[in-house]
Amino acid sequence: MNSHVPLAEPTPLPHASTPSPHHAPANAMVDWWLMVKAFWKKGRSVASFAPSSRFMARKVVKGIDFEKARCIVELGAGTGPITAELVRRVKPHTKLLVVELDPDLCGRLKARFPQVDVVQGDACHFDKLLADRGFSQVDHVCSGLPLPSFPDSLREAILATSARMLAPGGTFRQLTVMPLIYYRLYCRYFTDVRFGFVPLNMPPGGVYVCRGYRDPSAE
Ligand SMILES: C[S@@+](CC[C@H](N)C(=O)[O-])C[C@H]1O[C@@H](n2cnc3c(N)ncnc32)[C@H](O)[C@@H]1O
Repeated sequence: MNSHVPLAEPTPLPHASTPSPHHAPANAMVDWWLMVKAFWKKGRSVASFAPSSRFMARKVVKGIDFEKARCIVELGAGTGPITAELVRRVKPHTKLLVVELDPDLCGRLKARFPQVDVVQGDACHFDKLLADRGFSQVDHVCSGLPLPSFPDSLREAILATSARMLAPGGTFRQLTVMPLIYYRLYCRYFTDVRFGFVPLNMPPGGVYVCRGYRDPSAE
């Protein structure tokens, strides 16, 4: 049973996004330049000077049941390679919320995906953003956040919130360019962690798909 406990239905909300399959295409030069600039300014909190490849983006969304999903959140969207894959597949009954901290990257996302609910803010508040929109659970969290370079407390807060808010059958999906190195980190919060390698990315990386809340304090 889907226990979403929606405080309100997603579609009629004034700020609910019903993304159309049409959006501005990626502009490789613009997107690379924006990522290089953000990386130059913010270093570790951006962690990459190149947007993810479409192979990486497709791996992140692979296996999501878009018919069933009522709410999907993307954290750390950058210039939007994963957003584009989500927008292409998401159904009108699904709430899609995209959170990006960097104002320039956020501007690019808003220009590229005008129908999507894009918020400039810190991913650690995504539970409150969802509550404001009438959602107490999320089916899938797609994260491009550079979690390993975050301070411990922030990383733990984001993982714990994600694990706690997942609807039954939901997933937390984390891309990485350091294959398998942080496998044990995700195992602290999730009962089932699987890794898929993505060679065609710069640099090569992969995606963790995590399921099931595990309370780390119960260890
Ligand atoms: C490695 S980039 C990934 C960008 C994009 N998802 C991709 O795959 O190309 C990490 C992104 O996370 C964003 N970010 C870092 N810390 C954040 C935070 N606390 N909240 C929201 N976004 C954050 C950065 O600004 C950057 O756009």
